[in-house]
Formats: sequence, C-alpha cells, structure tokens
Amino acid sequence: MIDLEGAMAAARAAAATARLDAPPNPWVGAVVVDERGEVLATGATAPPGGPHAEVVALSAAGARARGATLVVTLEPCAHTGRTPPCVEAIEAAGIARVVVGIVDPDARVAGRGLEHLRARGIEVVVGVDAPAVADQLAPYVTHRRTGRPFVVGKVAATLDGMVAVADGSSQWITGDAARADAHRLRAESQAILVGAGTVRADDPRLTARLDGRTYEPLRVVLGAAAPGARVHPCLERSGELGPILEELGGRGVLQLLVEGGPHTLSGFIEAGLVDRLVWYVAPALAGPAGLPALVGLATPTMESLRRGRLVAVTRLGGDVRLDVEV
Ligand SMILES: NC(=O)c1ccc[n+]([C@@H]2O[C@H](COP(=O)([O-])OP(=O)(O)OC[C@H]3O[C@@H](n4cnc5c(N)ncnc54)[C@H](OP(=O)(O)O)[C@@H]3O)[C@@H](O)[C@H]2O)c1
Repeated sequence: MIDLEGAMAAARAAAATARLDAPPNPWVGAVVVDERGEVLATGATAPPGGPHAEVVALSAAGARARGATLVVTLEPCAHTGRTPPCVEAIEAAGIARVVVGIVDPDARVAGRGLEHLRARGIEVVVGVDAPAVADQLAPYVTHRRTGRPFVVGKVAATLDGMVAVADGSSQWITGDAARADAHRLRAESQAILVGAGTVRADDPRLTARLDGRTYEPLRVVLGAAAPGARVHPCLERSGELGPILEELGGRGVLQLLVEGGPHTLSGFIEAGLVDRLVWYVAPALAGPAGLPALVGLATPTMESLRRGRLVAVTRLGGDVRLDVEV
C-alpha cells in the first residue's frame, strides 16, 4: 500500500530544490515509487531547456520504472516545447499509474496530459495534497491563469508599524537572518519593483545575494529613478498598475516582489493587486515621527478594516516573518 500523501510530500521537497532555477518554467518535483511504497528515484525540473522533473526521475529509475507509480506535483505536459512531451516518456518507461497534485493551468496542457495517459491505459489519480501543491506553485498558477505575475508585497517594519525613522533612514530595521531571508525572496522573484522615493532614500541595488551567487531579477522603478542610482539598468514606469503587471507577465515574470516604499505598496494594495504580504517585524520601536508602513488606506469604521489571512509565521533570529494573504 503506497502512502500517496507521503510520496507527494517527497515530490514537493524535490520541487523546492528547483524553485530558483526553473522559472519561467514551473518548479516541479516527481518520485517513482514501487508497489511496496519504496521511493526508487526522485527528480526536479532542470533549468530552462533541460529535462522536466518526470523525465529526470524516470531516467534515474531506469528499468525499475516498469509497472511502478509516478507521483508528480503538476500534470505532465503533452506538448513539445524545448523538450519532448513528458507523457510519451512516461508511457515509454512502462509506468502503470500516475498520481498528480494539480492540473496544469497552462492552456497548452490543461488536462490534455491526463487524457493522453488515460487513453493509453495508464491509471491516473488527481488532487493528492492539492492545496499544498497549489500554494507551492502559486506564482506559476497565477501567471498562467491571469497573464499577470503573482505579486508579493514586502515590508520590514518595527513593532509599531514604521518602516523608517524620522530622518528617513531604514537600513537596517531587521537583523541578518531576516535580511538573508529577504534575499531568498528576491531570488525567487523574476522582477523587483520599488517607488522612486525608495531609490532616492536608500539607493538599493535590488539584486539578490544568496549562497555565494548573485541573482539579478528585472528591476522596475515607479517614477523616475534618480540619476546615478545603483538600480540602473531598470525599467522606469508610471501610471496605472494593471498594464504594468500585464507587461511584466508578458515578459515571463511569474513573481513580482514589490519592496515599497509605503506610497508604492499602498497603491498596489488599494488597487487589489497584492496576492501575498511578507511582513518582517523587528521588536523595535520607532515612535510616531517614523514613516508608517502604509499610507493613505482609509479605514473609517471597523467594517472597512482590511482583514487578511495568516498563512505562515516564521521566527528569523530576533525577528518574525508573517505571510499574509490579502
Ligand atoms: N523598511 C522597509 O520595508 C522599506 C522599504 C522601502 C522603502 N522604505 C522607506 O520608505 C521611504 C520612501 O517611501 P515613499 O513612500 O516616499 O516612497 P516610494 O513608495 O518608494 O516612492 C514614492 C514615489 O514613487 C513614484 N510612484 C509611486 N507610484 C507611482 C505610479 N503609479 N506612477 C508613477 N510614479 C509612482 C512617485 O515618484 P515621483 O515622486 O518621482 O513622482 C512617488 O513619489 C524611505 O524612507 C525608505 O527608506 C522602507
């Protein structure tokens, strides 16, 4: 008897290893399991142009894949992109059963992979651990469903909700562990956006430095980046936010990180364009002369309070990270 949830957890763990290098492709994980539930092989999506997770796992399993179960986070593809269709590799390997987390929302797949497998007499099970898989792939799913990136708003605030002190400086409110975590968040994003006010105040590089590697997401400044700022080269954009997101989606940006400042992030929240807030809180107090994390959000009554859903709480050194769906 195979523990499908356990096997899907192993597939998700494999997918997590591809998070930084797979985009603009989805970061997928796959495991090949025998009838006793033993994991024979594991695979994760290779960087663009390389094999998909299913093919990596099947190659590692070799002849042992015949008659086995393939557990994969996302529906296998049925079209030829830069690599041949995964469904053909699954069939050729003699897999008896395919267990899938979620159906691929990409219009080129959208159930065709599952149909192809069923038509070849391969048993298909869909929806194992689907909420966790959908959460792991949220940027990809949002991009394929809407054409826009998944928007993450990031804030580093004091306990009393301030993101800068009276002189406008904000470096650094949080400690090393939270800042290292924020660099991972940047590396996971294909674009980073800030307002011109933040460029003027902080002159951020907006690159991600992680595990000895430097990631350079597309950098976007709302308004005009200050001459001589380190953020060059960047896209300078202004006006309505919706068309800017559509443009970024068209450039293959699955996740956009909005790093502030308060005017810019508030504009995204007011327009209903933030999917997730990542809110780092330092146990520090700035007092009322500081700069509030958000500006201009009118909340005249308790009925109009914007309530989010707490998704995760993580302790990072002396600080805390709150993930909130808004
Ligand atoms: N702790 C943190 O997490 C954090 C993060 C970021 C920033 N900060 C702090 O926040 C402060 C700056 O905040 P801020 O609210 O003044 O700056 P901001 O939000 O970075 O920039 C505001 C400016 O962005 C431009 N802008 C925003 N939306 C636009 C749109 N739709 N179209 C065109 N331009 C648009 C405008 O630039 P123009 O003025 O050029 O028209 C606007 O004045 C600094 O003290 C910085 O240290 C803290």
